[in-house]
Amino acid sequence: MSLALPGNTEAEVITFPLPVRHELEIGLLADTAHTSPKYLYDAVGSVLFDAICELPEYYPTRTEAGIFTQCMSEITHAIGPHSTLIDLGAGNCRKAARLFPLLHPNQYVPIDISIKYLEEAVQRLQQRFPYIEMTALGLDFSTPWTLPAEVRTDKRLFFYPGSSIGNFEPSQAQAFLRHIRTECDTDGGLLIGIDLIKDHETLHRAYDDALGVTAAFNLNVLRHINQIIGADFDVHQWRHHALFNTHHSRIEMHLEARTAQTVTWKNMQRHFMPGEKIHTENSYKYSLESFLTLLASAGFGHAQHWTDSNHWFAVVYAKAI
Ligand code: AVJ
Repeated sequence: MSLALPGNTEAEVITFPLPVRHELEIGLLADTAHTSPKYLYDAVGSVLFDAICELPEYYPTRTEAGIFTQCMSEITHAIGPHSTLIDLGAGNCRKAARLFPLLHPNQYVPIDISIKYLEEAVQRLQQRFPYIEMTALGLDFSTPWTLPAEVRTDKRLFFYPGSSIGNFEPSQAQAFLRHIRTECDTDGGLLIGIDLIKDHETLHRAYDDALGVTAAFNLNVLRHINQIIGADFDVHQWRHHALFNTHHSRIEMHLEARTAQTVTWKNMQRHFMPGEKIHTENSYKYSLESFLTLLASAGFGHAQHWTDSNHWFAVVYAKAI
């Protein structure tokens, strides 16, 4: 006699061809070389990012988790049960998993560019929560995207924690939020984490930790680029540099050339002078007011927010209408 297991034992995984790496080459050849922060997340980069989240200097993850601990019942009550929970940049899926017991989503749709890492995480999660339908998507939402037909359309709750919205230029962030809103039905909404402007010392330390984990995370982009386009970056020849740009209200991460060098790939090459930089990430910080204004300008309706006692981080729930 065989015993059928109730619920789902394996999550569905859908991957999309990632866009051509042309933009990577354009960025490397630009006057000021730059790369999109999405290239920070290969298998090694995703693990290093998880380690960053454990560091004492990196307050965002801890502070956001504290807000959820403090306000979980209020937050989930504001949202209500049976949503289609769409997790943007799900990574290890741990943040969303904390919501399941109170939120009772009908479907969980984790999305991440680092699909191998996501796939392992979601398979483990599906075993723990067999009654939640899970559909993992490997997709790059920094370029135009739409959700496949496998994603339910009723009561979509977009979950975008960790202040990852900070990677977008403010104008792109507005377009991104507007797109999310159009993907929601009238019952839908957005639950988002926002890193707030604070003293520069705290901000800087969070992106230049004593152990050098953030440095490793930043430098790893060079290995990833070597892999993607077949370049010959020598990681030893570069150093991590992070700064807070007050004018733009953003943390910037750069890689600085220690020596003069020429990097080659395919039939292309780029010369770097000592001290020359590659700009690898912006992480915009908002005031609560400026972010709520941005949400309203993207067409969102009523918004509620929760914050920590230091006002270092905010969790915002905005209804689609
Ligand atoms: C994942 C974009 C929210 O900006 O704080 C952490 C990435 N970069 N340390 C951030 C990051 C360096 C992180 N986000």
